[in-house]
Amino acid sequence: MEERLLEIESLTKYLSNTIDDFKDFFSDDKDKKTFSLKSMIEKSVYIVKGGFTKHEIEIEVDVHNDFMCHSYENELQQVLVVILNNAKDALVNRNSYQALISVTVRIEGEFYIIELCDNAGGISKEIRDKIFEPYFTTKHKSQGTGLGLYMAKKIIGESLGGELSVSNREFGTCFEIKIKVGVE
Ligand SMILES: Nc1ncnc2c1ncn2[C@@H]1O[C@H](COP(=O)(O)OP(=O)(O)OP(=O)(O)O)[C@@H](O)[C@H]1O
Ligand SMILES: [Mg+2]
Repeated sequence: MEERLLEIESLTKYLSNTIDDFKDFFSDDKDKKTFSLKSMIEKSVYIVKGGFTKHEIEIEVDVHNDFMCHSYENELQQVLVVILNNAKDALVNRNSYQALISVTVRIEGEFYIIELCDNAGGISKEIRDKIFEPYFTTKHKSQGTGLGLYMAKKIIGESLGGELSVSNREFGTCFEIKIKVGVE
């Protein structure tokens, strides 16, 4: 009971932060802060975790403890939640065997590359160019608005000054988030 209440409290706080982030999205005076990428990723996983355990989806987070980033933590977290939820939908939809999502981070020059990969079979060629368009969805309208990746790309590109891209790998899809390290 106590555990569930804490979970509800933390999810409500996340929702409330999300509302603030949308309010502040276009303002210049929002605050960047320095945070640990690993803990930001773990918070994102915590938010989606409920839906994952139910479907026996495993999430593997392999991120160095010392990766610090100076940016907008909540906005980045929202993007991770979008990508993780999409991966979950794809894994559930395709009934994937040993469903797995892996999250890794590497440094390339002055950038971090956060990579989120699933083994749900990938995105077909026909729709790969469309997934970042507003309202593009392959889900029933009660299950998807088609705004997730559109917003995610906007947040990474316009607010965080980075890049969001997608590619197919052997067993599924990988999303790559490229952002400035931003700390000396
Ligand atoms: N990991 C993935 N594997 C396979 N297809 C994916 C994956 N991620 C996204 N897609 C495809 O991209 C489409 C667009 O994703 P997007 O998050 O923008 O919208 P949505 O998930 O359909 O709805 P919502 O806005 O509610 O999240 C999805 O409908 C799905 O077809
Ligand atoms: Mg989505």
